[in-house]
Amino acid sequence: MSNENDMVSVTLRVHRFTPRAERERRHGSNPFARKSSPFGDSGARRRPRGKQWTQDYTLTVRPEDTVLDCLLTVKRTLDPTLAFRYSCGHGMCGSDAVAINGTPTLLCTAPVHAWIRNDGFRRTGEEGEPGETAADGGVIELSPLPGFPVQRDLIADIDPMLDQIRKLKPYLEAKGELRTTADGKVNVFEYLQSPAELAKYETLTNCIACGVCEGSCPVFAGGDAFIGPAALIAASRFVNDSRDGRTMDRLDAIDTEDGVAACQSVRACGRQCPRGIDVGEEMWQIIAKVRER
Ligand code: SF4
Ligand code: FES
Repeated sequence: MSNENDMVSVTLRVHRFTPRAERERRHGSNPFARKSSPFGDSGARRRPRGKQWTQDYTLTVRPEDTVLDCLLTVKRTLDPTLAFRYSCGHGMCGSDAVAINGTPTLLCTAPVHAWIRNDGFRRTGEEGEPGETAADGGVIELSPLPGFPVQRDLIADIDPMLDQIRKLKPYLEAKGELRTTADGKVNVFEYLQSPAELAKYETLTNCIACGVCEGSCPVFAGGDAFIGPAALIAASRFVNDSRDGRTMDRLDAIDTEDGVAACQSVRACGRQCPRGIDVGEEMWQIIAKVRER
């Protein structure tokens, strides 16, 4: 159990955003303004307008607390208007991806001690004490997941990513007819796999569609020019599944200008994957499969 001496002071510097109300927008809209974008009506270009500002919240917390713990404390004790999204609290649902100090990651798996930084916290001219560490106090900067339109405060609209994943049919389409047993039930034994076959795609089933890889990718930026690493990971999961009968269709579906051709091999996508997927390597492998077919 922590005692008072273990506690640290942390300032959460939160990039906040409140969208302009629909009615206000209609009332104040310019009648001569262009009604739609000449580039289409994609999620990336439908950025809501509204008020943006930065707000500081200073708390005393335990270094091992997560940034999500800190935000929940802010919400319960300081500012109920602060908006952020979370669900499981344990790195399983992928709903709380944001940028911490500019790096896409999950709020619930980010301990304060790993992200606190003491630059910019002291006033000008103020010296730190000898032996002072980052844990003696500092700032954690929070902003919504890059690459997606912001809905409110730390909540990004990840629908563009989910739409791209859905387009690639992320479900098993088994080879041939379903076999049945003598009593008319589906014969599940027809779908057994060897451990080696399972190993080919098992890691990819860990993807939780959090969007961290997309927020890290400099090409994704809303999904207009590139379907994004999360969609390619979803496609790859089924391409590598020996039970699936649509391998060629799946490879065709990503062999497009905004598919594998748009990947610039920057490999930023895999640096922060919370599920340990080497996204850059998987991208490289699926690109090789598309080229070899
Ligand atoms: S590959 Fe990793 S970072 Fe990308 S969506 Fe899946 S879990 Fe998140
Ligand atoms: S709250 Fe579910 S992954 Fe963080």
